[in-house]
Amino acid sequence: MGLLLHEGIESVILSEEDIRNIVCRMGAQISDDYADKNPLFVAVLRGAFVFTADLLRAVTVPCSVDFMAVSSYGDGVKSSGVVRIVKDLDTKIEGRHVIIAEDILDSGLTLSYLIDLLSARRPASIAVAAFAVKDIPGKKPAIKPDYVGTHVPNEFIVGYGLDYAEEYRNLPFVGILKPEVYS
Ligand code: PRP
Repeated sequence: MGLLLHEGIESVILSEEDIRNIVCRMGAQISDDYADKNPLFVAVLRGAFVFTADLLRAVTVPCSVDFMAVSSYGDGVKSSGVVRIVKDLDTKIEGRHVIIAEDILDSGLTLSYLIDLLSARRPASIAVAAFAVKDIPGKKPAIKPDYVGTHVPNEFIVGYGLDYAEEYRNLPFVGILKPEVYS
């Protein structure tokens, strides 16, 4: 039998139940805040697709969703803050209440760039829902999300949409990757 994904995981930091509780709470908050606003969720591919799918089903008010794909310029210069739009929205956002859904906020530079870009299209409002915010000692992310699911340690984490070399996104929980996998 081939290698199982779980075998690359050192420890689980968010179980499936933890994730359900977090997303349920976020969905309830957003539903309270956006009654009658028909928000447009913008999922930032690829990582956010799993979180966005769950978040939408935890939201109880009418809403819609669209997708953007971005990538950092160059290899290994992640979080440079300059991102390339690989796939733009199909929806016009002028006058809409936009909620950007992100799986993880690290430096916050990707989101900061996206907020500037989308703000120029004159939405009625723009908010950020981040499933996880990485706690990096001595560093503050460039932006403060309006909705934060949870905080995670500054480790190599995968699962629930988060990848290592495009793998592990399908783990239903969030775990810390064993160093031998990436070293
Ligand atoms: C991750 C994540 C955010 C970004 C956060 O995406 O989904 O978009 O990094 O980092 P920052 O706060 O430091 O800017 P990644 O570039 O790994 O692409 P992916 O979503 O396709 O996994």
